[in-house]
Amino acid sequence: MNKFSKLSILTIAFAVMTACSGGKQPNVELIQDMMESPAFKAQEFDPNAPQHRAMRVPPEHTIPVGYHKPYAFATDYEGAIKNPNPLVNDFSPEVLVTGQKYYGIQCAVCHGDKADGNTAVAPKMLLKPPALTSEKIRGWTDGQIYHVIVMGQGLMGPYASHLPKEEWRWAVVNYIRHLQKETK
Ligand code: HEC
Repeated sequence: MNKFSKLSILTIAFAVMTACSGGKQPNVELIQDMMESPAFKAQEFDPNAPQHRAMRVPPEHTIPVGYHKPYAFATDYEGAIKNPNPLVNDFSPEVLVTGQKYYGIQCAVCHGDKADGNTAVAPKMLLKPPALTSEKIRGWTDGQIYHVIVMGQGLMGPYASHLPKEEWRWAVVNYIRHLQKETK
């Protein structure tokens, strides 16, 4: 192929490509296979759909991939008390390291590194974050501590979105149990 024919192919290709775009007319589709997908786009008109919206409301209880399961005991405290800890009595290094990590990030600032309520912020707070090594919390079930993590309590907000994985929350519960044992 000489220089001239290369140039003319490029010129023709350029003319074909530019001729179809930019104007008010729709593009000329030379090869139409797969140019127009039969699938509806999100905002498209669908003659068969309710209210003709192609975009459908997901079925009830749909959970996006990667999101945690909804908490079953949000309004059922009796159920929350009995909610079993899948990591019960698991004080293996893996669980404690995970628990320590997330307790340290999310809870220690208010409840203290040793969960004794001894923190720099406490004196400045109207309601002091209580110790989690108290007789009261020792007497709670794991499910009750889990419930406060997910739902919050009184002035303490919920930490469900801070700890999206259930196993992180239970690991925090186990880490609190570990701190309770350490201070007995
Ligand atoms: C911003 C400060 C703050 C953070 C962070 C925080 N808490 Fe609290 N927490 C409080 C306060 C204040 C209370 C008391 C709330 C009330 O009863 O009105 C409380 C109460 C609790 C209770 C109930 C204690 C009792 O005696 O009734 C538990 C259990 C608890 N928190 C666990 C946690 C865990 C686990 C985390 C980390 C995921 C956490 N908290 C993070 C401030 C905090």
